[in-house]
Amino acid sequence: MKIAVVGTGYVGLVTGTCFAETGNQVICVDIDKTKVDKLSNGQITIYEPGLEKIFLRNLKEGRLHFTTNLAEGVKDATIIFLALPTPPGEDGSADLKYILGVSDELGKILKPNEFKVIVDKSTVPVGTADKVKAAILQSAAKASPSGGGLVGAFAVVSNPEFLREGVAVDDFMKPDRVVVGTSDERAKKIMTELYGPFVRSGNPVIFMDEKSAELTKYAANSFLAVKISFMNEIARLCELLGADVDMVRKGIGSDERIGKRFLFPGIGYGGSCFPKDVQALVKSSGEVNYDFEILNAVMKVNEEQKLFLMPKINAYFNNNLKGKRFALWGLAFKPNTDDIREAPALYMIDALTEAGATVHAFDPEAMPNVKQVVGDKIDFAESQYDALVNADALIIATEWSEFRTPEFEKIISLLKNKVIFDGRNVYDAEQMKQLGFHYESVGRSAVTNN
Ligand SMILES: NC(=O)c1ccc[n+]([C@@H]2O[C@H](COP(=O)([O-])OP(=O)(O)OC[C@H]3O[C@@H](n4cnc5c(N)ncnc54)[C@H](O)[C@@H]3O)[C@@H](O)[C@H]2O)c1
Repeated sequence: MKIAVVGTGYVGLVTGTCFAETGNQVICVDIDKTKVDKLSNGQITIYEPGLEKIFLRNLKEGRLHFTTNLAEGVKDATIIFLALPTPPGEDGSADLKYILGVSDELGKILKPNEFKVIVDKSTVPVGTADKVKAAILQSAAKASPSGGGLVGAFAVVSNPEFLREGVAVDDFMKPDRVVVGTSDERAKKIMTELYGPFVRSGNPVIFMDEKSAELTKYAANSFLAVKISFMNEIARLCELLGADVDMVRKGIGSDERIGKRFLFPGIGYGGSCFPKDVQALVKSSGEVNYDFEILNAVMKVNEEQKLFLMPKINAYFNNNLKGKRFALWGLAFKPNTDDIREAPALYMIDALTEAGATVHAFDPEAMPNVKQVVGDKIDFAESQYDALVNADALIIATEWSEFRTPEFEKIISLLKNKVIFDGRNVYDAEQMKQLGFHYESVGRSAVTNN
C-alpha cells in the first residue's frame, strides 16, 4: 500500500518506519527541513531502541522516503496518517491548529476521483474526526466553486496510537490491540488489510465509531495516570504509617483485577502524553459540564509528587542548600528515551538551583535535549560516575538500567557524603543500610547512617 505520514516526530517516524517494514511504500512529511534532510541522509532524529536498524534498512531498500512537501507526500497515497502535535493550549485543551492546518491544506490538494483514507493518529478530543472532515471540505469548497467534489472521496478515521516511548517499535509491531474508529466500510477494509501483518498472533483490531475511538485513547492514558497517582498516594501514606510500599505493591499487584504493572511509586509521571492528555480530558469534560473529579485530583497529586524528594533533601541539609552540589542521575521522563517533555528531573533542577545548589547531571541519552532547555544552568557529566565528583549527595530521577547495579564502592569513593535520594526506588533499602548510606526513597522508611 502507499502511505503518507504527516508529522515525523516520535509517533510519525515509528509509524512510517514500521509500515515500511511490512512492505508498504511510505513517505513521511514534516515541516522541519533540518529533520527531513537528516532522515533522508540516514541520520535518525530520535533515540528509540531498535528503530535505527529498521529505519536504515527500509531507507536503503527504497520503501521509506522523507519530504517537506505535503502535496508530493500525499499524491499517490491511499492512506494519509496525521501524526501531528496536539499540545495543550492556554486553557489546557488540546490545540488542534496543526491538525486543522494540515486538513485545510489537504482540502486544496485532494482529488475527487481518488478515494483516500485520512487517519488521525494524534491524540485528539472527541469530535476531531468531524472537524477534520469539515475543514477539508470547507477548504476544497473555497479552492473550487464546485465544492471540490470531495464529498465521499475520502473518509476520516480515528486510529489512536498506544505505543510507549522506549519500547515503541515492539509496541507498534506487536500491538495488544488496534483501535479503529470509522463508520465507512471502504476505510474499514483498507485499515483491516493494513494492520493484518501486525495482528497475526490474534490480537484484535477493534472497530468502533470515531468518537468512541477518540475517547478510548484519553481514557487509557488517564486510567494509567490514575493508577500511578493512586500508588504515589499509597506511598505517602506508607511513610506516615511506617509501612513499606514495595510490600503493598506486591500484595495488591498479584490480584489479577489490579495487575502488577503501573504500580511503581516515584516522583511523578511526565512525558509528552499523560500530563497533557489528563488535562485535555478534564477540559473536554468541562465543555459538556462534567466535572471529572478523579482526574482533577490526579493532576494535583502529580504536581506535588514531582518535588516529593525536596522536603527530604532540605531536611537532611538543615534547609540550607546554598553551595551544595548534587549529582543527578537521569533526566529523561522515563528510561530508554531521550524525551524530556514534562520530565520530573527538570522540576528538580529548578527547585535545586533556585535554592542555591548546583547540579551535575548525567543521562545516557537525554543530555543534548536538556542542554537545549536549561543551557548553562547545570553541568553535564561525562559518565554517571563523573557526575558524583565532589557532590554532596546523589539524586536519582530516572530508572535507567545502568543505574540499577552500579559500583557502590566507586560511588562511596567519589561522593562527599554517603547520601542517596532515590526518586524511583531503584535500590534495596537493606543493601543501602549495609553499605552505610543515608538513603531515602519513596514510600519506604529512610535508612539513616548516624
Ligand atoms: N510520543 C508518544 O509517546 C505518543 C504516543 C501516543 C500518541 N501520541 C500523540 O501523537 C501525536 C504526535 O506526538 P509526537 O510525540 O510524535 O510529537 P512530536 O512533537 O515528536 O512530532 C510532531 C512532528 O510534527 C511536525 N509538524 C508540525 N506541524 C507540521 C505540519 N504542518 N506538517 C508536517 N509536519 C508538522 C513537527 O515538526 C514534528 O516533527 C500527539 O498528538 C501525541 O499526543 C504520542
